[in-house]
Amino acid sequence: MEIPRTNLTLSFFFLCLTLVSALSLSSFSPTDNHLINCGSSVDAAVYSRHFVSDDDSSNPNSPLLSATRTIPLANQKPAPSSHQIYNTARIFKKPSKYAFEIKDPGTHMVRLHFYPFVSSNLDLNYAQFHVLVNGYVVLSNFTVANVATPLVKEYFIWVESNKLVITFLPTRRNEFGFVNAIEVMSAPKDLIADMAILVNGNKTEKFDGLTKQALETLYRVNVGGPKVTPFNDTVWRTWVPDDGFFESSELSSRIYFSGRIKYQNGGASREVGPDFVYNTARVISSTNASIPDANMTWEFPVMEGYQYLVRLHFCDIASMSLGLLYFNVYINGHLAYENLDLSSITYMLASPFYADFVVDSDGYGFLRVSVGPSNMSMVHTVDGILNGVEIMKMSNSVGSLDGKMCAGMVLRSWPRGNFGILFPLVAVVCLLLSLSVLMHKRTVGTRDSVAWSKLPTDVPEDNVKPSNEYLSGKVDVSSRSTDF
Ligand SMILES: *[C@@H]1O[C@H](CO)[C@@H](O)[C@H](O)[C@H]1NC(C)=O
Ligand SMILES: *[C@@H]1O[C@H](CO)[C@@H](O)[C@H](O)[C@H]1NC(C)=O
Ligand SMILES: *[C@@H]1O[C@H](CO)[C@@H](O)[C@H](O)[C@H]1NC(C)=O
Ligand SMILES: *[C@@H]1O[C@H](CO)[C@@H](O)[C@H](O)[C@H]1NC(C)=O
Ligand SMILES: *[C@@H]1O[C@H](CO)[C@@H](O)[C@H](O)[C@H]1NC(C)=O
Ligand SMILES: *[C@@H]1O[C@H](CO)[C@@H](O)[C@H](O)[C@H]1NC(C)=O
Repeated sequence: MEIPRTNLTLSFFFLCLTLVSALSLSSFSPTDNHLINCGSSVDAAVYSRHFVSDDDSSNPNSPLLSATRTIPLANQKPAPSSHQIYNTARIFKKPSKYAFEIKDPGTHMVRLHFYPFVSSNLDLNYAQFHVLVNGYVVLSNFTVANVATPLVKEYFIWVESNKLVITFLPTRRNEFGFVNAIEVMSAPKDLIADMAILVNGNKTEKFDGLTKQALETLYRVNVGGPKVTPFNDTVWRTWVPDDGFFESSELSSRIYFSGRIKYQNGGASREVGPDFVYNTARVISSTNASIPDANMTWEFPVMEGYQYLVRLHFCDIASMSLGLLYFNVYINGHLAYENLDLSSITYMLASPFYADFVVDSDGYGFLRVSVGPSNMSMVHTVDGILNGVEIMKMSNSVGSLDGKMCAGMVLRSWPRGNFGILFPLVAVVCLLLSLSVLMHKRTVGTRDSVAWSKLPTDVPEDNVKPSNEYLSGKVDVSSRSTDF
């Protein structure tokens, strides 16, 4: 099969291009925003975010159901530097649930915080448990032992009903589960788009139905830059430096940009990636009359048997002017995007853009992302750039992110009689889910209409400025979109 280089049509419709002025930036405030300090009778603040107690005597609206079967536990010797939410935990000796009220249907971010400690009568390093979120298995046979820093698991879950339910189940009768803190919040509307490019061997196809799948964040990497903490991120995420994933290359270099990142409607928003991610990058460039014969490559360990969403963040903070940067993007050694030309997408420098690819693991337990010169690369210019990478695991056909058992089977593994009412319900949900996943997996093979630009369907009103004639006048899709 030949590489469909002519089929990767760069058709990005930057309708309603609008400059977001630095002054009109409102920080993201999620409609649903449940932050829970588990096992504590008092509230706690982390970076001025308010985590409320899950104790029903101090919080009448506690989302925790059946609190009688759980135990609040406090760390008698908390580390002075650790956040208050990590000094307490709730212990589950039987299946237990938190039910969160959902006002804003759609994608929700769920974060579970785990930081085991040893108390007088219990060592959380020995916990072993399963966790379900709205019928998805997110953790199975899970243990978290001897970690130096808190472990935060993050998921994206599509919610259509008015509840999001998180269930903790010990693996066996004498085992127990725990959690230190929970976050459930509406995701920014443009964060997870429904469409992506499926990289299937040498072929690329359109992939539909991403939003309805459960996703788990595995890697969130600020290429060429420092760690970004929740305090400095628009959606309270953590971005780590890429040093542990980057295969060093003599021909590449890091760059830092001190100017303003120009967020545009239709492109990546500040919620998609903060300035800290877009103002650093690694580049490969030609300094003389020859184009470097090399790629920059990042390698991420992943588990077999799942599909992965690979989100690549680009922002041309390196070129001297528009129209000089062309490069290829490879995933697992397959050409995923040929002659990527950021100028033809954003029409200005320092304007962020991201692309989503869906891939299988390579069969060796790795996911490899490479960026390098293309046939259109020029000498004495930048010939490849990458600013950020996110890798998310996609739920499998039984609705699990961790194993081959569906939620119904996991619930059934707990001796019956204790959880009898929930079980048949979840079994049905489990079956329906498998069916719907199968249906969503259907992909459409119209290659030359790969429409993977992340155009948010509803642009938040505060971003729409009426005086955008200057920019929208510049957007002439027919002449600007480039078909190679
Ligand atoms: C947990 O581990 C046990 C023993 O390895 C296995 O039999 C069981 O299927 C696992 N449970 C889940 C939900 O993966
Ligand atoms: C991909 O392309 C290479 C070279 O053209 C070819 O050898 C290989 O069989 C192709 N692989 C698939 C999965 O089509
Ligand atoms: C946020 O970013 C600023 C500027 O880089 C840095 O000085 C500060 O330490 C960061 N704060 C946190 C909590 O990471
Ligand atoms: C260009 O620079 C590269 C790396 O610095 C070097 O390997 C290559 O030989 C140079 N090519 C020419 C034509 O000078
Ligand atoms: C860059 O990576 C791709 C995919 O692995 C490979 O086909 C290509 O030969 C590489 N280019 C160089 C110069 O190594
Ligand atoms: C680059 O150009 C050559 C020659 O025109 C062509 O054979 C090749 O398929 C093109 N694409 C890549 C990725 O090399």
